[in-house]
Amino acid sequence: MGQEQVQQAQQGDETQELATVRRILQAHENEPGALLPILHDVQDALGHIPANAVPVIAEAQNLSRAEVHGVVTYYHHFRSAPAGRHVIQICRAEACQSMGADALLAHAELRLGCSAHGTTKDGAFTLEPAFCLGLCASSPAMTLDDQPHARVTPRTFDALLAQVAP
Ligand code: FES
Repeated sequence: MGQEQVQQAQQGDETQELATVRRILQAHENEPGALLPILHDVQDALGHIPANAVPVIAEAQNLSRAEVHGVVTYYHHFRSAPAGRHVIQICRAEACQSMGADALLAHAELRLGCSAHGTTKDGAFTLEPAFCLGLCASSPAMTLDDQPHARVTPRTFDALLAQVAP
């Protein structure tokens, strides 16, 4: 595919993304304080909050771009870039921390070669910190593609990774 075709394909994707964002904005029209539900819907639909959606959302919600951007970056849940094919969340809340979550996260970073909030170079895995996955009694906990796993050790982490195709 030539450079021009790549650019056209990207523009087509961006147009489709913005059409989705506009549909979501319409669904929340006249709904006061709808920024968070809008951002959740956009992320559910597109997997992240595209940078070019921020001004569109800001205008519709009568907010500044900085305000919308601030909310997107404040909440760990929201992604500014698409996630990898598999998403790993490692709990960093208190119960898990006391049972070795920091060491588990460090192992995951080393094993994947990316830091928390990062995606591996091949786009296979995104690593994210989480704050309580509801498995506090069986900590440390993580999810892999939304599937919860309890009492995770570096060894079981490696075994879980080996089970999913990269
Ligand atoms: S503190 Fe980690 S699952 Fe609750």
